[in-house]
Formats: sequence, structure tokens, C-alpha cells
Amino acid sequence: MIRVSNLTKEYGSRRAISDLNFSINRGEIVGFLGPNGAGKTTTMRILSGYMPPTSGTVEIGGHDILEDSLAVRKIIGYLPETVPLYPDMTLFEYLQFMAKLRKIKNADDRVDEVLEMVHLEDRSEGLVGNLSKGMRQRLGLAQALLHRPEVLILDEPTIGLDPVQIIEVRNLIREVGREHTVLLSTHILPEAQQVCNRVLIINKGKIITEDTTDNLQARLAGAQRVLLKVRGEIEDLLPVLRDIPGIMALHPQSDDSVEFETTPGQDVRPQVARSVVQAGFDLLELKPTSMSLEEIFLQLTREEVAAPELDGAVVEEASEER
Ligand SMILES: Nc1ncnc2c1ncn2[C@@H]1O[C@H](COP(=O)(O)OP(=O)(O)OP(=O)(O)O)[C@@H](O)[C@H]1O
Ligand SMILES: [Mg+2]
Repeated sequence: MIRVSNLTKEYGSRRAISDLNFSINRGEIVGFLGPNGAGKTTTMRILSGYMPPTSGTVEIGGHDILEDSLAVRKIIGYLPETVPLYPDMTLFEYLQFMAKLRKIKNADDRVDEVLEMVHLEDRSEGLVGNLSKGMRQRLGLAQALLHRPEVLILDEPTIGLDPVQIIEVRNLIREVGREHTVLLSTHILPEAQQVCNRVLIINKGKIITEDTTDNLQARLAGAQRVLLKVRGEIEDLLPVLRDIPGIMALHPQSDDSVEFETTPGQDVRPQVARSVVQAGFDLLELKPTSMSLEEIFLQLTREEVAAPELDGAVVEEASEER
């Protein structure tokens, strides 16, 4: 359904994405996961025909995005990072206007339908300019859904939404994902895990890993860390911990606590609990600390450094927090 080959984009001399290759099948929901500046928006803008690549090709539904851009526009819905909206129109007017641009039949009925889908039906007569950020985001989503596109390209669909709306929008994406092909970008790993069948992780303009959500989850579970806190000097306990099979690295956190990494797939906590008590210490805390996205990226990029495909030019970019 979406086939991306050797896609590269340079802004002046800065290479934002470098030789991307991936495909997405009909009915798949794929997460495009990466830190700030990774190249997600750049890729999605190219896919949606917003700007041309420097080199490489994209086919959507069998149509080349450059040669057949009109056909592509018909079958994709795009939620851009910043949704262009007309503040002086009512929601209904705005969607009606977009529907006319798209030459949708029975436009008014369809506008009502999409407003309902994103739970904005009671705002229909209100002004776009008076919407909250999250509502604006949902209106953007409504606009993307208007023409019942086969493919949805959603650039950070849940950014700026409150927790209740996040759940709603995720459910909505899962729902439309049953009939549509969806590519959505996010910084949030759990979001990708909840919504997507498959994840592409992009960093510094390159895809560093691509896997099903289930596999990725297993890999990340393997990277689990555990925090141990005892009454007493942790220093005295380190030799005991070192002898426990399945414990890899030990990182003392304070006088009485240590964090350790475990072998993938192994739960060492029962053994740790026994050993601590046998060694005469009181066990105060023993809990998994999940790795942050940052750490996961660090780990994945470190894994990849040795791989030959990363030897090419990589854009050096200090990722900025929003
Ligand atoms: N119009 C532009 N002109 C020049 N450089 C740009 C432009 N747009 C993006 N870039 C650069 O391209 C790189 C990728 O940016 P992009 O917006 O695609 O990242 P992103 O993954 O969407 O990040 P974020 O999570 O912050 O939205 C960055 O180094 C960025 O500074
Ligand atoms: Mg972006």
C-alpha cells in the first residue's frame, strides 16, 4: 500500500532523512517513533505530497507520489504537525469548505459524521478560533477523515490532548485502522505499543529498527532494570548480587540502593529477595524501573553503531526538547 524506496531529503546541505526504505501493507497501523528532529515530519510531508524528496521514490496505492500526485491526494488523509485552520469559520463551515475542495458528495452529512467521530458535534456552530488545542487537533483529524481515505498519515495525533482525549483518539485510530492503512508518528513508546501493529524507529534520519509491537515489547522487556533498596550498606551486598545468574550490570544509586540490568526474559527478583535476606539484610524495595524512551533509543543506537549501514553520513543534531 505504501512503498518507500531510498528516500532522502536534504534541506540545503542538511540531510534530514537518509535513504529510508520501508513498506506498509493495507490494514496495518504502523508507528513512526523517534525523538525530536529524527525526521518524522519530513518523511510524512513527503508521503503526503506536501514537498518533494531530494531523491528516492514513494508509491501509495500503486501511484507514484510525484507522477500521480492527484491520485495520491485522493486516497490519503493527512494530519499535519501544525493543522492549518481558519479561525473565523465555524467548525461546520470549515469542514464543509474542505469537503467542497475534495468534491465530496452529500458534504453536509459527511461533515456531521466526522464531527461526531471526533466528538465535536456540539461545537459545530462555534468558531474554529475558539477551540482548545486538543479540540483543534481533533478537528484536524476530522478533516483528515472527511473523504474516507484508504491511507491515513497522522503526525503526532495525540500531542496536546488531555489524558481522556488521548484514550479517545487512540481508540478512534484503532477503529479507523481496521479499514484504513495508518502511519502515525509519536515520541511516546507506550502509545506506539497500544495503537500499532508494527513500529519503525527512526533516529537522526535513519530507520534504526523495525519490528512488530509484540517483538519490540519483548526486546524492551529484556532491557528491564530493577531497583533494589535495603536497610544497610549496599556496598556489602554487591558481591552477593554479582553471583546471581541473570544479573548483568550493577549501578549503585546511593548508600542503600542499587539498580541492576537483567538478562532478557529473566525475572531475577525472587532470587534477589532470597539472597538479600539470607545475607542478613532487610529488603525495603525491589521494583522494576522501566527504561525511558531516551534510554531505549540510546540502547538501540548503541547496538547499531557497529552495524555497517550506519557508517554513512549522519546528520548531527542535538535533539531539543519541546
Ligand atoms: N524546513 C526546514 N528547513 C531546514 N531544516 C529543516 C526543516 N524542517 C526540518 N528540518 C530539519 O530536519 C530534521 C528533521 O526534522 P523533522 O521535523 O522531520 O523531525 P521530527 O522527527 O518530526 O521531530 P519532532 O519530533 O520534533 O517533530 C531536523 O534536523 C530539522 O531541524
Ligand atoms: Mg515532527
